[in-house]
Amino acid sequence: MRGDIIARRKGAKRRNKRDWTNLADEQAKANLESFPDQDWSEYETEDEMFDGNHQKSIDKRLEKLDEAGSKFHWMKEKRYARMFSEIEHKLTGALGKGEYDWVDRRVFDQVFDQSTLMAIYKLMQQDHIDTIEWPIARGKEAHVFHAKSQSGPVAVKIFHTSNAVFKGLMQYIEGDPRFGGLRRRHRELVNVWVQKEHRNLMRMKKHGVRVPESLVTRKNVLIMEYLGDENGPSPRLRDVDIENPKEAFEILLEQLRIIWQDAGLAHGDFSEYNVLIHKGEPWIIDAGQAVVQHHPKAKEFLVRDITRLVQWANKNGVDVDLAESTLYVIEEKESPK
Ligand SMILES: Nc1ncnc2c1ncn2[C@@H]1O[C@H](COP(=O)(O)OP(=O)(O)OP(=O)(O)O)[C@@H](O)[C@H]1O
Ligand SMILES: [Mg+2]
Repeated sequence: MRGDIIARRKGAKRRNKRDWTNLADEQAKANLESFPDQDWSEYETEDEMFDGNHQKSIDKRLEKLDEAGSKFHWMKEKRYARMFSEIEHKLTGALGKGEYDWVDRRVFDQVFDQSTLMAIYKLMQQDHIDTIEWPIARGKEAHVFHAKSQSGPVAVKIFHTSNAVFKGLMQYIEGDPRFGGLRRRHRELVNVWVQKEHRNLMRMKKHGVRVPESLVTRKNVLIMEYLGDENGPSPRLRDVDIENPKEAFEILLEQLRIIWQDAGLAHGDFSEYNVLIHKGEPWIIDAGQAVVQHHPKAKEFLVRDITRLVQWANKNGVDVDLAESTLYVIEEKESPK
């Protein structure tokens, strides 16, 4: 039996939910390094806080919506205003302090469009989510929130329905009658992506890969098992010093082998950013891009994943090579008698 992997967070500080903003900023920076050409300006921190001036009446709230711009006009419709007033108290943990203050905050403008709010509303009605408590991280494709449900804490991954690249393209196409419905089609594409992550996670889990259990999806929202405790999410492999990196390497190589041979998939974005050290074990996350073995790029993705793992191991003083590790992953094992 293997013991737990001993991992210490780099630096003495243990992250908690209050410093999620720093975490998000660090991640944004990491993203910036990996994608230098992308326009990240909209991910910059919104520091403005409002002075807790609590507006209580619906009218006041709607005025506020007006100020926030046309994006939220739909909320003025009675049924949406009612729907939102039903759930807003369950969102405040993640959405800033006073009522509707969040509307002015860029992060919520970015994440909670009409379709997303409706999806969250339905998930709350169906008891998949009780309250959304605080943001864990924001990536280029999604925000992840810590939420409570009747069966315990969950992680809610909300995919952006519109990203910077898409917005850039839109200005050349929107309004051209020859190419209507692009926004809708883009949203549908995002929804398919969410389904793909859900199914990839379920398939990996079924074959014994240590991934968070994917529980349910709706539109661009995926709810999964939360990896962490009440203070914050479990750290990424990137953020910890591992005491026994050779063992961590072996466990992760075995996970890649199971993903390939048993689940028939290539993860496709394996890296020290997409492994969380939870309860002394490495857990693999972020499976949206995983592809089936007969996908034309599957082998290329697999080799890239193994390369990243081997590079991580080498960086941590473990003497392993790519060829041998690749052989281990792709060579069929004798089935136990
Ligand atoms: N189930 C979970 N429990 C706790 N934290 C999680 C969970 N899933 C994701 N996270 C946190 O959220 C971050 C982003 O998640 P994930 O990598 O799935 O999203 P992403 O938007 O595809 O990220 P990126 O594109 O930046 O790689 C992770 O690095 C991790 O810190
Ligand atoms: Mg990720």
